[in-house]
Amino acid sequence: MIPDDKLRAQLPHTLQQLDLPGLGELYRGKVRDNYSRGDRIVMVTTDRISAFDHVLGTIPFKGEVLSRLTAFWFDKVKDIAPTHIVEVPDPSVMVVKRAKALPIEIVIRGYVTGSLWRDYQAGKADYGISWPAGLRKDQRFDQPIITPSTKAEYGKHDEPIGEAEILKQGLVTPDVWKEATAVARRLFQRGQEWARTRGLILVDTKYEMGIADGKLVVIDEIHTPDSSRYWVADGYEERFARGEDQEMLDKENIRQWLIKEHGFSGHGTPPPLTDDVRVMLARKYVEVFEKLTGETFASEVGSVAARIERNLRATGHLA
Ligand SMILES: Nc1ncnc2c1ncn2[C@@H]1O[C@H](COP(=O)(O)OP(=O)(O)OP(=O)(O)O)[C@@H](O)[C@H]1O
Ligand SMILES: [Mg+2]
Repeated sequence: MIPDDKLRAQLPHTLQQLDLPGLGELYRGKVRDNYSRGDRIVMVTTDRISAFDHVLGTIPFKGEVLSRLTAFWFDKVKDIAPTHIVEVPDPSVMVVKRAKALPIEIVIRGYVTGSLWRDYQAGKADYGISWPAGLRKDQRFDQPIITPSTKAEYGKHDEPIGEAEILKQGLVTPDVWKEATAVARRLFQRGQEWARTRGLILVDTKYEMGIADGKLVVIDEIHTPDSSRYWVADGYEERFARGEDQEMLDKENIRQWLIKEHGFSGHGTPPPLTDDVRVMLARKYVEVFEKLTGETFASEVGSVAARIERNLRATGHLA
């Protein structure tokens, strides 16, 4: 486990953004700086953290954790479906194949929790699914459930959408939808099985897929703590039986901090992150990395931007 001193020492060196116009045309997402050129995207995972669609600041080593976990998982699932990954020139960077992204995100859930639990309780859970009565918070489903959402344009919130509506609106063809959901189920099963061997529960996750060279490919990030919920497996049953919250190693930690300490749930100006909370969150990210991979996270303290630039030059991505 990485010492807090090291996480604290990295605070002034985090990657807020990477300005390297020589890499191509920039699209800055909430977390990634994406440089496209031709059919390739140099996808730089910065240390930015977002919650409730606001970028709040940076977390030491977060970009590296997310990028390395995505590369780790893509390797684990490469027999299930093609993925967009081409090359990893730096621990925080992936060069990927550009795809035409499907206009929906495939959310798949093994448990009823989070926003779905809130909707279910309020009798508002829809997705064209007939929800069983009497579910309890954090209860496991017999079969994982797919709750898709639209991929909203910049500045808008993603909206829940059911399968019938996706097909009616022609957002994807029935064939692509069938294949995409089948792939999502296989990926999720693989993810859950692996997580379980590492003492974690992969609770739910979100996949993005696209079409490249006429084929369905898995794009974006997968099974990261930003796109997924992870709980500690040990003690799940007891906590569930007692109605207690689960032990979380995912983005829910920042949401809880914002809500409980600052009453912030997306409206108005978010509170500034204190260094203590930045270190606390860094510890969670590193912890989930170490648990999932079984590796020790041993990155050096220092400028992430300088390291990336060096590695991109060495690998010929930057002149
Ligand atoms: N292979 C790919 N081809 C095309 N687009 C991709 C590919 N992989 C990921 N993307 C897109 O690149 C972007 C990654 O940046 P990031 O995750 O920071 O954005 P975001 O904040 O999640 O989304 P946005 O700001 O676009 O709503 C996302 O819009 C994602 O959909
Ligand atoms: Mg994203």
